[in-house]
Amino acid sequence: MTDHADLEADLLDRVRAAAEPAALEAVRLEALGKSGAISALLKSLGSMSPDERRVQGPAINGLRDRVAAAIAARKAALDAAELDATLAAGRLDLSLPAPPRRRGCVHPTMQVMEEMIAIFAELGFSVAEGPDIEDDFHNFTALNFPPRHPARELHDTFFLSPDANGERKVLRTHTSPVQVRTMRRTNAPAPAPWIAAGQAPPIRIISPGRTYRMDSDATHTPMFHQIEGLVIDRAIHMGHLKWTLDRFIARFFELDGIVTRFRPHHFPFTEPSAEMDVQCDTSGGEVKIGQGHEWSEIVGCGMVHPNVLTNCGIDPDAWQGFAFGFGVDRLGRLKYGMPDLRDMFASDTRWLAHYGFSPFATPNPASGLS
Ligand code: DAH
Repeated sequence: MTDHADLEADLLDRVRAAAEPAALEAVRLEALGKSGAISALLKSLGSMSPDERRVQGPAINGLRDRVAAAIAARKAALDAAELDATLAAGRLDLSLPAPPRRRGCVHPTMQVMEEMIAIFAELGFSVAEGPDIEDDFHNFTALNFPPRHPARELHDTFFLSPDANGERKVLRTHTSPVQVRTMRRTNAPAPAPWIAAGQAPPIRIISPGRTYRMDSDATHTPMFHQIEGLVIDRAIHMGHLKWTLDRFIARFFELDGIVTRFRPHHFPFTEPSAEMDVQCDTSGGEVKIGQGHEWSEIVGCGMVHPNVLTNCGIDPDAWQGFAFGFGVDRLGRLKYGMPDLRDMFASDTRWLAHYGFSPFATPNPASGLS
């Protein structure tokens, strides 16, 4: 017994004295390792008589447990001390300025699209989409363009090389082909949950997207964006069109009482057709909407031509409606005052940083549109 007590006292002393994990591990091996002192005692139990074992067994096991517990406790203490030392040595200086983070921003055109979609959603429109590469039927023929219309010429429109059948696809010159796709796709399923399916009338859709024309000056770029609108029902008339556009303008420019005017115009796909202008003042070098005595053209519109309805399989004696097409970039320019439309697509990050919008401020009617 005294031997055991001496051994225990000696081991516990050395455990206490171990100043680092490696020294402690050496003590553990000497006591509990394969050929350690306590392991040898445990082995000796096998050659004892049962009576002897009854006495020695609990004593040796108790010794082993106490020494193992002392080693575990010492190990925890050494580990904690090591962690404290690491933390103390590697202290973070929170007063240092953080390295600058580059954050992207939303392009004004995309912001304006979101604003427009939010307003039209409020008015009960859903979003429909179509391809940028169109065929002649959807871009021109179904929309009642006569065969020799100037838009069908190479100097106005980007055509792709003819395919194996001799068909020349076109980069769509407007978003109006989506009207045709929506009306003709009567029973097609929606391509995504947030996109309107093709549908039989009544129809109330808008179609935002990229459009292409051979044009480049301060107010035109070869690629630009439009939002098309289409409403078809039994008794839709010009009054509904005018109310819808006036309502939109008031919401978009966040101003009541903006004077608008409808000028007669011509589009092959509407009859009658009009362009709507908003009252503005450009005298101070910047455009101010809703004041002054000048006009800025803002949207083409009209009552859908009966030929277009017929081309899309809708009976023009039973259904009628209106359509409109906004230039998104142009509207953004009027609202946010960019001088030259071409800068919008020059990919100059300084321009974007100046005119861009926070990605965290998605326009919606509740929190504000701009
Ligand atoms: N597609 C016309 C354009 O690009 C815009 C437009 C005018 C669309 C009248 C319409 C509309 O739907 O009714 O100039």
